[in-house]
Amino acid sequence: MCGIVGYIGVQQAYPILIKGLHRLEYRGYDSAGVSMINEEGTLSVFKEKGKVAALEASVEGKDISGTIGIAHTRWATHGEPNAKNAHPHYSQSKNLSLVHNGIIENYKTLRTKLEEKGFEFQSDTDTEVLVQLIEYQEEKDNCDLYTAVQRSLKIVEGAYAIAVLDKRNPDVLIAARKSSPLIIGVGQNNHENNGQAEFFLGSDATPIIEYTNQVVYLKDEEIAYMDRDGHLRITNLANVEQTPDMQTLQMNLDELEKGGFPHFMLKEIYEQPNALRNCIRGRLSIEEKDIKLSGIIDYREKFLSARRIIICACGTSWHSALIGKYFIEEAAQIPVEVEYASEFRYRNPVITANDIVIAVSQSGETADTLAAIQLAKEKGAFIYGICNVIGSSIARATDTGTYLHVGPEIGVASTKAFTGQVTALFMLGLAIAKEKRTLSDDMFHMLIDELLMIPDKMQWTLEHNKDVEKFSQIFTYAKNFIYLGRGYNYPVALEGALKLKEISYIHAEGYPAAEMKHGPIALIDEEMPVVVIAPKKGMYDKVVSNIQEIKSRKGKIISVVTEGDTTVRDMSDYCFEIPDTRDCYVPLLAAIPLQLMSYYVAVAKGRNVDQPRNLAKSVTVE
Ligand code: F6R
Repeated sequence: MCGIVGYIGVQQAYPILIKGLHRLEYRGYDSAGVSMINEEGTLSVFKEKGKVAALEASVEGKDISGTIGIAHTRWATHGEPNAKNAHPHYSQSKNLSLVHNGIIENYKTLRTKLEEKGFEFQSDTDTEVLVQLIEYQEEKDNCDLYTAVQRSLKIVEGAYAIAVLDKRNPDVLIAARKSSPLIIGVGQNNHENNGQAEFFLGSDATPIIEYTNQVVYLKDEEIAYMDRDGHLRITNLANVEQTPDMQTLQMNLDELEKGGFPHFMLKEIYEQPNALRNCIRGRLSIEEKDIKLSGIIDYREKFLSARRIIICACGTSWHSALIGKYFIEEAAQIPVEVEYASEFRYRNPVITANDIVIAVSQSGETADTLAAIQLAKEKGAFIYGICNVIGSSIARATDTGTYLHVGPEIGVASTKAFTGQVTALFMLGLAIAKEKRTLSDDMFHMLIDELLMIPDKMQWTLEHNKDVEKFSQIFTYAKNFIYLGRGYNYPVALEGALKLKEISYIHAEGYPAAEMKHGPIALIDEEMPVVVIAPKKGMYDKVVSNIQEIKSRKGKIISVVTEGDTTVRDMSDYCFEIPDTRDCYVPLLAAIPLQLMSYYVAVAKGRNVDQPRNLAKSVTVE
């Protein structure tokens, strides 16, 4: 996820662009850049690593004038977050500059072809391929910019929202989209501007709403031409004219930033199907029924000779690591240990050069996890990172790894990063199993097929559990909660309990269901809500017995069951349904109703859901 802003009109573009970037920072914040064309026709590009404020500081004293411009705040996908890889990117001749949100999947092939034709690349990004390709098409076909953009977009595969400037055409702004959002704002204050038109661009409406509420949502594979005379022309890739569908925005700024959701946490819960699609894109292939993880392919021998794997993490990431352990051991037959990074770093753990240490961290900045892998590195282990934030300290300290690609997570309570981490660990397990040939072909293909279906099943889960809001309110009285699960769902119970306590401040504990009888069952009375993850899988009958034990002590049962299961439903006071899936993948679906329940209990209790007390999004201190 990145943020795009654009402007053409009579006002100075830079202040509009910078303000817009600040509003889009929630979409990415590892680097930022602007490009303008000034009165003399100079096309400038300024870019800087870090947040938008760093960009602002870096342009002090420079010529940032111009009434047309584009800007970008980046969330890196290809190429480290640094000034070189920040957008906008120039074309070879520096006649064009371009910003992009999305991923160009065939960029490597295109880059090689363009290099053969003499194009020199300045960055490691997929985006630079686009701007060079457009310049190449322009020269080859001797066509105008609009046509060159159209022809180039027919060649690229993947997702894009783009905006392009051409210094030879300072009165024209071109934009296009496919799978990544882009909105055009049509200026309303024409009379104030002596009748001159202005257009705004934004990845969402937040950079636009201050100036106009008249917007056009660009559709997939549409290209827009905007000029200072007020012409707005939209065609599709086949050059068929499209009628702009002008809409009036009703939302305020705050609602817009959160995509219409009241909190980032809820938005991020609902983003999970798409976040997971992005996580598996380019790695799992439906046609080939195969998995490609470059971190494993490049270090195949390391994984083949690994004696054991140690996963270090904290909090929610530790819970995903535990699910990863169960899967990697089952699929790839390597012993896996899961360690709290904060404990591991202060022990004197036995680590050898045949060990692989995996760090799991959303932020990539957690001090304990970073220290744990530094220790493991000193002891000679090979270090693999599973991080969300590209170029983060942990990502840089590892030998290789897998990024989640689930987009920035703003809510302090981790949701989409959790399911992203679990998915990344499943992919890792499958990729090692493939190299070690520890799974039969049938099983391997079945696991890939089913993982590819998870985003749709997540969508179903979100759509079929709408009443969670209503009955979550019933439990605001509770002082304690117990969460139970077995096998793959024991870590889900731990995660469900953590989600509830961190945002609602209700005490909650997760246990393996069979452990109840060894002590915790003494806590059960008619006041105690017990959340049981009870899919119709593996240890179903045993979990049913565990539920009976609680029922007979008058505990309130809230269950997560497989769609259509009436046995557990009839035993439950409240019940969430999830679609059927393989045992190992249940956590990806079961996590969703538990996240929603925590969210709605916290909202009903009037908590600050996105910024709960005493917590920070990245824990960079011990
Ligand atoms: C809980 C939560 C924390 C983090 C933990 C590790 O919702 O977000 O428990 O999981 O602080 O953070 P990362 O994953 O950034 O290393």
